[in-house]
Order: sequence, then structure tokens, then C-alpha cells
Amino acid sequence: MSKMNIEAGMPIALTLEPGTYYRCTCGKSQHLPFCDESHRGGDSQPLRFEIRSRQKVYLCSCGKTGKAPYCDGSCGFSPP
Ligand code: FES
Repeated sequence: MSKMNIEAGMPIALTLEPGTYYRCTCGKSQHLPFCDESHRGGDSQPLRFEIRSRQKVYLCSCGKTGKAPYCDGSCGFSPP
């Protein structure tokens, strides 16, 4: 996950095309929520995930989810 923002408590809604994505987990990326390799030299590794068809996704930004990188509603939001 990107740098967790528990106070935010809302997912990041994006429509993604099919492909492989890397969710930033260090919070240093200049292209959040995606990795730009800024984690190099640190302990964090990006979270790889696949999108098979164009779809709207809700990426967790709070760090409470049990279904990373996706929001599972642990923040109080109800993903459709
Ligand atoms: S934003 Fe983290 S569970 Fe919803």
C-alpha cells in the first residue's frame, strides 16, 4: 500500500485499462498511487496487481484492508 493515511479513510477510485500495475507502498512516489521506483534503497516493495478488463477499482488508502490493494470497506466506505 502507499503510505497509509488512516485519517483519510477513503479509497482512491480509478478506472484502469487491462494491464499490470504496481501500487506504491512507501509513499515516496511522485505518481501515487502507483510506484515510480522511489522506494529503492528502502524496505518497501510495491504491490503488483493485474487488471484483466477495463474496470473501475477502489484502491485502499488507509491500510486497514484485508484485500490489498483494494478497499474492502474496513475504512467505513462501501465499495460498490
Ligand atoms: S480505504 Fe482502506 S479499507 Fe477502504
